[in-house]
Amino acid sequence: MKRDFLHITDFSTAEMWEVFELTKKLKGYLKEGWEYTPFKGKTMAMIFAKPSARTRISFETGMTQLGGHAIYLGPNDIGLGQREAVKDIAQVVARYDDIIMARLFAHAHILELAEFSSVPVINGLTDYNHPCQVMADIFTVLEKRGNLDNLKVAFVGDGNNVVNSWLELTLRLPMHFVLACPPGYEPDKELLTKAQNSGLSKVEISHEPFEAVQNADVIYTDVWASMGRETEKEKRKCDFAGFQVNLQLVNAAKPSVLIMHCLPAHRGEEISDEVIDGPNSIVFDEAENRMHVQKAIIHKLMVG
Ligand code: CP
Ligand code: NVA
Repeated sequence: MKRDFLHITDFSTAEMWEVFELTKKLKGYLKEGWEYTPFKGKTMAMIFAKPSARTRISFETGMTQLGGHAIYLGPNDIGLGQREAVKDIAQVVARYDDIIMARLFAHAHILELAEFSSVPVINGLTDYNHPCQVMADIFTVLEKRGNLDNLKVAFVGDGNNVVNSWLELTLRLPMHFVLACPPGYEPDKELLTKAQNSGLSKVEISHEPFEAVQNADVIYTDVWASMGRETEKEKRKCDFAGFQVNLQLVNAAKPSVLIMHCLPAHRGEEISDEVIDGPNSIVFDEAENRMHVQKAIIHKLMVG
């Protein structure tokens, strides 16, 4: 049975820890200059309906490091769901390639791609979630803190795809997760209810950033208008006034608070320059870890 990674919950808690262990090992090999190339002759198809820097570069480089190859298919190449039906593309690509990574608009499209593909499918972001991002995020927190005990994460901003993946994570690892967002910008209702009722984590929605960051180990933010929502940019700038992660907000948290952002950042909007460039910011370690974690995810899906 082929396996996909479309949601963080596609891994059990035990499997997540296996992925983190493998990530540590693969990152170590690379830092030591040791080659590890189990995927010689294997090819990944990377289907992008939206722009990307980190996701494309980290998957393509990661695949090369593992001895394989990756093909970039941009928004004008396939026309998924327009030029050609999702289920047809799924079956065609699976005849050529050994694994598929896709960044799409509709979440239903990645579900369909996975359903009709006989090779593993990895979700590289949809309008609904961004599981590879949050796997890299939590691995980075683990690296920095040494453990995930009594973790409090305060996400300040839009209840978007990245937040939904944090909610998925709360279903696998215990934590206190609070989203501070303006009213009307809450995350997926069904997923939120599930996360709040799971009994594993404490999950809260707040409209008060200064309260939310009290005692937080991590302050996380992301753009106010995600890809596909550019026309709402100006309205959102008004609605999110008071939700910027700036020095005043950071000073209301613990001195050791870690500042995270999935990037790309809109400096001066959701985060100030002095915070993203400041001593508590771990955004570039976070970006680097995308590659190490994704190599482990690919490995888990292709080897077990
Ligand atoms: N964080 C992230 O997924 O970045 P890109 O959109 O550049 O891939
Ligand atoms: N929420 C952002 C994440 C980008 C990596 C977006 O969807 O545009």
